[in-house]
Amino acid sequence: MTKTRIILDTDPGADDALTILLMLASPEISLEGITTVHGNVPLEKTTRNALALLEFFDRKDIPVARGCSLPLIKAPHVENDNVHGTSGLGRTNLPEPTLQPVAAHAVDYLIQRFLAEPKELTLFAIGPLTNVALAIRQEPKFAEAIKEMVIMGGAIRSGGNMTPLAEFNIYEDPHAAHVVFNAGIPITLVPLDATYQCLLSSADVERLNRIDSPIPKFIRDVTADYMEFYLKYEGFSGCALHDPLTLAAIIAPQLLTLESHYVNVDISGGVSEGKTYADFMKVTKRPANMRVALDVKGREFVELFLERIEKFCAANAPTR
Ligand code: BDR
Ligand code: CA
Repeated sequence: MTKTRIILDTDPGADDALTILLMLASPEISLEGITTVHGNVPLEKTTRNALALLEFFDRKDIPVARGCSLPLIKAPHVENDNVHGTSGLGRTNLPEPTLQPVAAHAVDYLIQRFLAEPKELTLFAIGPLTNVALAIRQEPKFAEAIKEMVIMGGAIRSGGNMTPLAEFNIYEDPHAAHVVFNAGIPITLVPLDATYQCLLSSADVERLNRIDSPIPKFIRDVTADYMEFYLKYEGFSGCALHDPLTLAAIIAPQLLTLESHYVNVDISGGVSEGKTYADFMKVTKRPANMRVALDVKGREFVELFLERIEKFCAANAPTR
């Protein structure tokens, strides 16, 4: 099997952590590097979390590059009631990592990796798009060196989860998303329209916890604050698998309804700032710039997620 070789740009984050785990549990994927960005929690925490996660999953071989701590133009997000817990990883208590980030800044690291192997690597982005936008602006050959980008972000027909119109990753740095969407990169976008149909329930987490492994306990702890948020605001005892579902674009595309559209982001600064919109009626006459997942077989994806974690736990069973 030819594996999809991925560089992951991320802001861990509970569902980012589950995505890293799902990538490591997926035979179709080779995770070859991680770049961190501000987002769910400040950059120092997202970087610390990425390193701690790789140590916990016993994958210290995967390099991590620290990226941007602020959005391109807009004022940074002020944290209050954090959905992902104070650390960004819910109620987990992973030890301080011994692993260090590489010396290069994430923007330089991305440019270096993609230019070294043009059209070989997939860029998988599940946080605000600041690092990627800066790499595009810094190195004109960067965009064309990307084989494909898969992005979790946006709300097309769906309402937003950050403002009534805008989704978190795009809202956090709308100008960066604008640069990325208009750079000519082949993109697959997985917005809230799909991810809100893909819900991990507390019963699913308990099903995993029948296995004797530290990983299901980690999943219970990492999703605890996240699930509390969903219960409080959505009346649902579980959480949306936003970032993990995005991997379906590679490992289970048959579960997604993908349509090609011209999609852009509102950066005009009004009430719809950060809103992603699709030109369904082709009024702009612009060619499609991405494939967008507008529907999903959500429960089938959750089953696939659970099965992969179960297999991964069996293969990495604790030795006594
Ligand atoms: C996105 O925002 C973050 O909170 C999640 O990690 C995901 O990437 C969902 O809107
Ligand atoms: Ca994320």
